[in-house]
Amino acid sequence: MPEGLQFPEVPEPRLPYISAASDFCWSLIMWTGSTLFAALASVAVAAPAGFPASGNGLWYTTPGAIWSLNYLPVGNGYLAAMTPGGTVQEITQLNIESLWAGGPFQDPTYNGGNKLPNQTQEMAVAMEQYRQAIWKSSTGDIDNIDDLTTDPGAYGSYIGAGYLISTLNLTGQVTNYARWLDLDQAIAHVTWTQAGSAFTRETFCSHPTQACSQHISSTGGLLPLTFAFSSSLEDGLPTPNITCLDSSTLRVRGFAGIPGMLYEMLGRVRSTGGTVSCAVAQGPTPNATIAVTGRPSDAWISWVGGTEFALDAGDAAHGFSFQGPDPHAAVLALLEGTPSTAAYTDLRAAHLADFATVVGGFTLDLGQTAQLGTSTDALINAYETDTGNPYVEWLFFNYGRYLLASSARGDLPANLQGKWALDVSNPWSGDYHSNINLQMNYWSAEMSNLNVTSSLFTYIEKTWAPRGAETAQILYNISRGWVTHDEMNIFGHTGMKSGANSAEWADYPESSAWMMVHVWDHFDYTNDIAWWQAQGWPLLKGVASFHLDKLLLDLNSNDGTLVTNPCNSPEQVPITFGCAHAQQLIWQLFNAVEKGFAASGDTDTAFLDEVLTKRAAMDKGLRIGWWGQLQEWKWDQDMQNDTHRHLSHLIGLYPGYAIANYESSLQGGLIVNGSHLNYTKEQVIEAATISLIHRGNGTGPDADSGWEKAWRAACWAQLQNSTEFYHELTYAIFENFGPNLFSLYDPFDADPIFQIDANLGIPGAMLNALLQAPDVASLTTPIVVTLLPALPSQWSSGAINGARIRGGMTVNLEWKAGKPTSVSFDVAASVVARPVQVVFGKTVVASFTTSPALRKTITNF
Ligand SMILES: *[C@@H]1O[C@H](CO)[C@@H](O)[C@H](O)[C@H]1NC(C)=O
Ligand SMILES: *[C@@H]1O[C@H](CO)[C@@H](O)[C@H](O)[C@H]1NC(C)=O
Ligand SMILES: *[C@@H]1O[C@H](CO)[C@@H](O)[C@H](O)[C@H]1NC(C)=O
Ligand SMILES: *[C@@H]1O[C@H](CO)[C@@H](O)[C@H](O)[C@H]1NC(C)=O
Ligand SMILES: *[C@@H]1O[C@H](CO)[C@@H](O)[C@H](O)[C@H]1NC(C)=O
Ligand SMILES: *[C@@H]1O[C@H](CO)[C@@H](O)[C@H](O)[C@H]1NC(C)=O
Ligand SMILES: *[C@@H]1O[C@H](CO)[C@@H](O)[C@H](O)[C@H]1NC(C)=O
Ligand SMILES: *[C@@H]1O[C@H](CO)[C@@H](O)[C@H](O)[C@H]1NC(C)=O
Ligand SMILES: *[C@@H]1O[C@H](CO)[C@@H](O)[C@H](O)[C@H]1NC(C)=O
Ligand SMILES: *[C@@H]1O[C@H](CO)[C@@H](O)[C@H](O)[C@H]1NC(C)=O
Ligand SMILES: *[C@@H]1O[C@H](CO)[C@@H](O)[C@H](O)[C@H]1NC(C)=O
Repeated sequence: MPEGLQFPEVPEPRLPYISAASDFCWSLIMWTGSTLFAALASVAVAAPAGFPASGNGLWYTTPGAIWSLNYLPVGNGYLAAMTPGGTVQEITQLNIESLWAGGPFQDPTYNGGNKLPNQTQEMAVAMEQYRQAIWKSSTGDIDNIDDLTTDPGAYGSYIGAGYLISTLNLTGQVTNYARWLDLDQAIAHVTWTQAGSAFTRETFCSHPTQACSQHISSTGGLLPLTFAFSSSLEDGLPTPNITCLDSSTLRVRGFAGIPGMLYEMLGRVRSTGGTVSCAVAQGPTPNATIAVTGRPSDAWISWVGGTEFALDAGDAAHGFSFQGPDPHAAVLALLEGTPSTAAYTDLRAAHLADFATVVGGFTLDLGQTAQLGTSTDALINAYETDTGNPYVEWLFFNYGRYLLASSARGDLPANLQGKWALDVSNPWSGDYHSNINLQMNYWSAEMSNLNVTSSLFTYIEKTWAPRGAETAQILYNISRGWVTHDEMNIFGHTGMKSGANSAEWADYPESSAWMMVHVWDHFDYTNDIAWWQAQGWPLLKGVASFHLDKLLLDLNSNDGTLVTNPCNSPEQVPITFGCAHAQQLIWQLFNAVEKGFAASGDTDTAFLDEVLTKRAAMDKGLRIGWWGQLQEWKWDQDMQNDTHRHLSHLIGLYPGYAIANYESSLQGGLIVNGSHLNYTKEQVIEAATISLIHRGNGTGPDADSGWEKAWRAACWAQLQNSTEFYHELTYAIFENFGPNLFSLYDPFDADPIFQIDANLGIPGAMLNALLQAPDVASLTTPIVVTLLPALPSQWSSGAINGARIRGGMTVNLEWKAGKPTSVSFDVAASVVARPVQVVFGKTVVASFTTSPALRKTITNF
């Protein structure tokens, strides 16, 4: 990214985020109609009662005004909600994970952005012409490959599902206001005092029940309270029918577009002691409201939602229709599954237990001190590059895991905005950009022991592989395996999407190869052989098969190697051959085939042999150019002033290992202009360092996003440079995050774009400074575990508990005064024996070979 979006060329001054300093004098703020909102001027600011003593949460002294800057997110993967933290009125913005405009629901002829089958011959001719032009070019590049691209058609967008409006019939001054998001509970809270009563509202989304709930209580009894729904606030969402399913249940039924996907939400209201009734207002479309009367002390609504989208119907057998049943029966069953007799406290307790299980397997301590006297907006406002603040960084780490656990556990993976998105046309469609963004979303999942990847792999299996096999056939004349390009929706978009600078963005058939790194890693971390055989290996084999057929003998350099043609670095020209990014990735892909073959149960040794033969012959994508850089392209044409946001050719540094664990015996040996070259690891690392320095700090002329800084931070950590790591990490936090700690693509905009990748990438980058165990080319190569490789002085004492590393190991690590004091390794009950070296500083402090249930503890450093 970006494509077709404006981004600021000249940064404007930082937004005047509302500060909550204790001496701040409040003026009266108009809030929700006639109600006057005020906070007491003289009261010392402190975290609200009930806020975690550890500081693990976000809190504020005023309601949120701007969605991407202030609202607080909750979600269970299936549903998501953004809460502003209102008082008499709460206007909660809603999402359903599969609610997308576009696709076959808009256009029955939608075919995933592919050419037609009868264009196969035409594509083969066009492809051959482009390839020949690249071979013959004196610099190995051409201007465009436009004939291969297709109009995105009904590509669609992830969209908002409208708003839930909860209104108390109450006026008067608001005092003692606070709102917060508790990251241990995954509950958003609001408390305030008004008209002599103390009010509390809580919102959460429960994974076990697939429902979200909002509960309100008051010390003085609730005044008449209503729950209504609005689509009109959600820009572009067609007006749904809102009816009463029964006297306590609101039914919202609408379409994502005209025409578009059908969705349904049901919201059931309960109250201890109150009377609940539902009434429909007359108008062009029915609009029901639920009222609670009788001054009960509490009331709550639980809502569920679904669409007619079906992941299982995205293949040829179903005509790629993605058509499922009317969602009514399924959502009604879910609603009935949230026990009608259960007290709210039971729903809440089940949610707390579930959330603790998903995030609780891992903890991080950075020696931080919770700053309970400073609200989160003031903390982020005071944050400075390089100086940093371990408490804030710890919060970002936990928040990233919170956001992933709250958005990825549905049927679809976390998209560009997790699952939180507004309106019907989201930036980059709120889709799955797979040239860094989708990957970064999952950077921390394996090591921080989050069991959240199931939807990712199933989404790839069910929406990428089936249509991607057609793309392989039609666009590349390859009849085994499958391919995707850069941008994927939920409707099997696998074609090469046309648009401005189309090739720069769309010419990316390595997207699925990169995602196979995640597939391999999941097996390497978990040793889950049943999963590997059923899902992981078939995915890997499909992608590797495609790339076997796509590699070609290099007829430009004539050095006898196999290369890709055409290729370009993600979002960057030239269009050329043998791109470093592609070659490194495909080499890693082929290694994963060899490492995973034995466990796969596959007897296709001809396939394995072909992979090994072509791997030996392929260009490994590692060349050192005229200014000492690691070349991005096979021709030595990198520009020293190229500060592009992507670090594509450094993929082997992080998150890959082609550079980080370079082995000259496997990757060495180049013929350049007739001379034989064989780099050492030191030379390759030095060249990568030079390239990283020249790429700048992630404030390119092309974008100022958070993810490019998170990626740089992770790379500097890999290079064991704690100063540069902390500089990039703190710079990202300083520059790219709002008061609600959302990652902002265009931080200086008044209403900036939320893009979740940097939120989810930061935990991965932070882990990489504390504990590294990058992949290796073979199962017999030692896994090198480096302790505290890039520890900033700000984090001089701390601990990690429950980190997973590859080889099926769990690691606990403690450190003091910048040095480890103890590390233990627990090997899973069933593993393949792997050699391991434990390194601190430049010293190998232990070596061992894994065996089932081995425990290894080291305390001498
Ligand atoms: C290709 O197929 C499409 C429909 O599948 C048809 O409309 C079109 O006429 C065909 N084109 C040619 C050149 O046969
Ligand atoms: C497609 O590939 C097949 C098998 O490799 C080959 O025989 C055929 O000539 C190719 N088709 C075109 C149009 O190039
Ligand atoms: C709200 O309260 C006022 C004053 O008690 C009353 O006049 C009005 O009818 C109430 N409105 C609703 C919608 O209950
Ligand atoms: C339904 O009623 C609510 C409450 O009066 C209102 O805010 C909302 O805009 C209405 N919805 C529609 C679709 O008209
Ligand atoms: C809403 O109601 C109208 C009128 O009954 C009907 O034509 C329309 O299909 C309904 N919409 C949905 C989403 O059910
Ligand atoms: C991980 O989550 C999946 C559901 O996505 C579940 O089936 C599995 O049991 C979980 N594994 C562990 C180890 O908790
Ligand atoms: C980088 O340097 C080249 C060659 O000197 C020049 O043409 C180009 O405009 C420069 N690019 C930037 C972004 O400064
Ligand atoms: C490169 O050097 C390494 C040792 O430094 C050696 O093992 C390897 O065979 C060499 N490769 C080539 C192709 O010469
Ligand atoms: C190869 O030789 C040509 C001609 O002498 C020269 O222009 C080119 O820069 C050389 N390439 C490399 C990588 O040294
Ligand atoms: C980032 O790099 C730019 C360009 O070199 C420089 O002007 C700026 O000071 C740097 N900022 C930080 C925080 O490193
Ligand atoms: C970290 O990188 C910077 C910039 O290249 C360099 O000046 C510094 O010496 C490096 N520090 C270490 C410890 O390598």
